[in-house]
Order: sequence, then C-alpha cells, then structure tokens
Amino acid sequence: MILLVNGPNLNLLGEREPEVYGATTLHDIEKMVAEACAAYGRVVRPFQSNHEGAVIDFIQENRKDALGLIVNPGAFTHTSYALHDCLKSVSFPVIEVHISNVHAREEWRRQDLIAPVTRGQIVGLGPAGYYYAAIWLCTQATDPVMGEYDEDGGPVEVDPNDVRVDEAPPVVGGDYEG
Ligand code: DQA
Repeated sequence: MILLVNGPNLNLLGEREPEVYGATTLHDIEKMVAEACAAYGRVVRPFQSNHEGAVIDFIQENRKDALGLIVNPGAFTHTSYALHDCLKSVSFPVIEVHISNVHAREEWRRQDLIAPVTRGQIVGLGPAGYYYAAIWLCTQATDPVMGEYDEDGGPVEVDPNDVRVDEAPPVVGGDYEG
C-alpha cells in the first residue's frame, strides 16, 4: 500500500492560482495515482489536510502498512520541523512532489526542510510529478513480501476507479535498495 499525502491548500487545486498550479484537481491526481499503482497491483491510501498535526497523525497511523509515501507538503515544506522529524522516523521511501518549480519562485520557497529526509524530489513538472513518483515507488518495491496478495497467492484486484481503497492487509515496511 502506498500513501499519497497532500498538505495545506492542495484541496483547492483546480481553482487555486491556476496560472501556477493548472486546472487539475486533487481528485484527478488521486485517481491518476491510484490507476498508475493499480497497474502494479498496488493500493493507494490518499489523504489531504490543512493541519500539520493531522498530516503527521496520518503518516504515523499508516507507517506499518506503507511501502512508500508520495508527499506534497505544500507550505509545510518550508516551515515544518515536525514533518521533517516524522518522515525521518519512517522506514519506507518518501518521494516529495511539487507541482510548481519552487526554485524559480519566491526566495522563501527555496528553503526545503523536507528534502533531506526524502529519497528524492520531483519538482516543477506539474501533476505528472505524482505519476512519476508512483511509477518509481511501484517499480522499486519488488519484494513479494511487500505486495498485496489474495488467498490464492495472486495479486489483489484493485479497481482503478476507487481511489479510496483502504482495505489492504497489513504489509511490512522496510528499507529499499535503489
Ligand atoms: C507546492 C509549492 C509550495 O511552495 C506551496 O506552498 C504549495 C504547493 C507545489 O506543489 O508547487 O502549496 O508544494
């Protein structure tokens, strides 16, 4: 199971500064990531909050089930030592995504407190960044122990239209090479 976490104001994608963030909605992004991961038999658990503590609670609560995290921390990127510490404590790979090129915008957006505790970042490629992050995680997570399998040992069926699938059995988190 892969976590997809979006921080503050990203619930307004599609209407928020469309000249910067485009017309794609958060629902579109969650669906795109769910479909991308479903092709690899992976389930996505999406979450968005405008509250720092809620984001941290969600990551902590799901830390034992997750094999990877795609996170756009929004403005928490530039301010949150608490989210930095949270991500430092998890054992699965974290991919940070920014829709806009934060390095080409205001000076304060260049400070990134999250980057040092991620495996990598995808910045400035629009919503496609979430897709690339999903593909990277799915193709890295090759250990069968980490997968979701049915009773017969086959990969679980994932409905790509249902981005709220969260019935995955617990999986073991761990370190990944690569
Ligand atoms: C953002 C960039 C942040 O600086 C900003 O606060 C956001 C969105 C992005 O996706 O480009 O909320 O993370």
